[in-house]
Amino acid sequence: MNRRSFITMAASALAFLGGETRAAAPAKMTVYKDPNCGCCHEWSKAMAAAGFSLDARDTDDLAAVKARLGVPADMQGCHTAVVEEYYLEGHVPLEAVQRLLRERPPVRGLAVPGMPSGSLGMGDDPQASYDVYAIPSGTEAPYVFKEVRPRKG
Ligand code: CU
Ligand code: CU
Repeated sequence: MNRRSFITMAASALAFLGGETRAAAPAKMTVYKDPNCGCCHEWSKAMAAAGFSLDARDTDDLAAVKARLGVPADMQGCHTAVVEEYYLEGHVPLEAVQRLLRERPPVRGLAVPGMPSGSLGMGDDPQASYDVYAIPSGTEAPYVFKEVRPRKG
């Protein structure tokens, strides 16, 4: 390799790293939750630890928040978060949030209905089994975005 092509390669590597740095800048996340909800607090802590810039808002009218965002009744969990143009309903695992922000599908948000035991904030158990749904922007039904299944080993 000659000197010029090495410099070109180094420059594009630097540009690539620069892009990565921008992508990793802390995304702002707003979490609406009941002040007395322990698992909501645990989930919020995990998001903050993962680098999200967290704005936790305690409210006693979560139903109004979910209605405003259009979270379907059968998709509801406990807390409701908003990151960029998406909502995150309930105990959505970190990997699903990261994939959502990477792939940016045309959905309104992700949801983990109910409060599955072992989900993030509910014990974060590697043996947990539950589905993460995506809620499309239009009138389509929610679909399974990620299947969380027991990790082997
Ligand atoms: Cu919960
Ligand atoms: Cu919660």
